Amino acid sequence: MKFDKQVAVVTGGASGICQAAAEQFAAAGATVCVGDVAREKGEAVCAAIRKNGQQAQYLPVDLTNHGSIRDFAAAVLQRFGRVDILINGAGWSKNTPFVDTDDAFWEKVINLNFIGPMRLTKLLLPQMMQQQFGKIVNVSSDAGRVGSLGETVYAGAKAGLIGFTKSLAREGARYNITVNCVCPGPTDTPLMAEVPDKYRDLFIKAIPMRRLGKPSEVADAIVFFAGPQSAYVTGQVLSVSGGLTMAG
Ligand SMILES: NC(=O)c1ccc[n+]([C@@H]2O[C@H](COP(=O)([O-])OP(=O)(O)OC[C@H]3O[C@@H](n4cnc5c(N)ncnc54)[C@H](O)[C@@H]3O)[C@@H](O)[C@H]2O)c1
Repeated sequence: MKFDKQVAVVTGGASGICQAAAEQFAAAGATVCVGDVAREKGEAVCAAIRKNGQQAQYLPVDLTNHGSIRDFAAAVLQRFGRVDILINGAGWSKNTPFVDTDDAFWEKVINLNFIGPMRLTKLLLPQMMQQQFGKIVNVSSDAGRVGSLGETVYAGAKAGLIGFTKSLAREGARYNITVNCVCPGPTDTPLMAEVPDKYRDLFIKAIPMRRLGKPSEVADAIVFFAGPQSAYVTGQVLSVSGGLTMAG
């Protein structure tokens, strides 16, 4: 199969888009490591994958906590010995006018959506460089490309992740490491369920395809960037948004 003998680390894999990605990687032969702060959900996702005769293991990580990220990276390398694919997928925000946000909110949003992925990448990158192979996919957001009402801090963090993707792609290329970025538009996940109905309806009206994305549709793009069909693609940003954003 496409990902036979490859180890795929998927943060945020306990839910939504990255759960779908974890399931797709496992179905395509990868050994999947789900890293997530939600232990029960992460363990349940991995148990369901194993029930299908596929390989998945949950390991805890809180991407807002430096020590937890260090422990996670060490546990991953100890348990699996290598990482071929890293999906920086965990993310969160809460729709709030910028003027009402405070430092604690900024820190959580920026640590989770930007600094955490950088920290984890830095810890796993040396082994990828040593093996001269790696596929890194960062899950940003269209908010980071074109902005989003009520998601100002999140948009800044996700825009940072896009810049990080492009620059790391330049550094990684000589080691046969590709780094790409998927930007979901409004997607029907538990995160979207937190968005007030009035915004959800506005999104749907604005989307040319007139519906939210399915988690599996975004996962398809993640798996493409992690797979052999994208061997010569790096530093790219792909919006998966039913046509909501077409420029920027
Ligand atoms: N759903 C959307 O409409 C949408 C749109 C644009 C971007 N995104 C991005 O897509 C990614 C996946 O989102 P989703 O919609 O599937 O959300 P989700 O809430 O279904 O899944 C997010 C996962 O991240 C985990 N997580 C949260 N905080 C964490 C932490 N501190 N440490 C480790 N894990 C943590 C959660 O436990 C959860 O399993 C996120 O990066 C999100 O920002 C989603």
